[in-house]
Amino acid sequence: MFGAGRAEIITLPRISDARGNLTFVETGPRLPFDLRRAYWLYDVPGGESRGGHAHRHMEQLLVAVSGSFTVVLHDGVRESKHFLNRSYYGLYIPRMMWRRLEDFSSGSVCLALVSTVYEEADYFRSFSEFLAAVQ
Ligand code: TYD
Repeated sequence: MFGAGRAEIITLPRISDARGNLTFVETGPRLPFDLRRAYWLYDVPGGESRGGHAHRHMEQLLVAVSGSFTVVLHDGVRESKHFLNRSYYGLYIPRMMWRRLEDFSSGSVCLALVSTVYEEADYFRSFSEFLAAVQ
């Protein structure tokens, strides 16, 4: 299901009834890593962007649990843009992928489900260093 090193949008299960919707994700065929951490971005001011880094080992799934935003990815060769606006879509981002999150709608919340605990040494914070390492 997941190509090596490829980012992709995955459609998560949606359990709907008269009380509303429920979506879940668990490690398995839909998610190719063990969850070690979650964090979320919220109250992002209009016009601000987040991210601006890549990771040596970390893989993650991003979900717009409320509102919308755009994720711009660069794999060292080409750029791709992914618009997230539904809480049953997740964007899988493999390791060694530069990301920038932008165009957050008012009140949006980005949930990140992550394969590693936080470690600053896992970050590339310089795009040129990332490019040199990914070639
Ligand atoms: P950063 O990953 O740069 O944020 P973003 O990519 O969303 O713009 O992290 C911002 C700050 O928060 C930085 O000082 C590291 C810290 N941080 C943690 O302490 N733990 C975490 O799990 C995350 C994601 C960040």
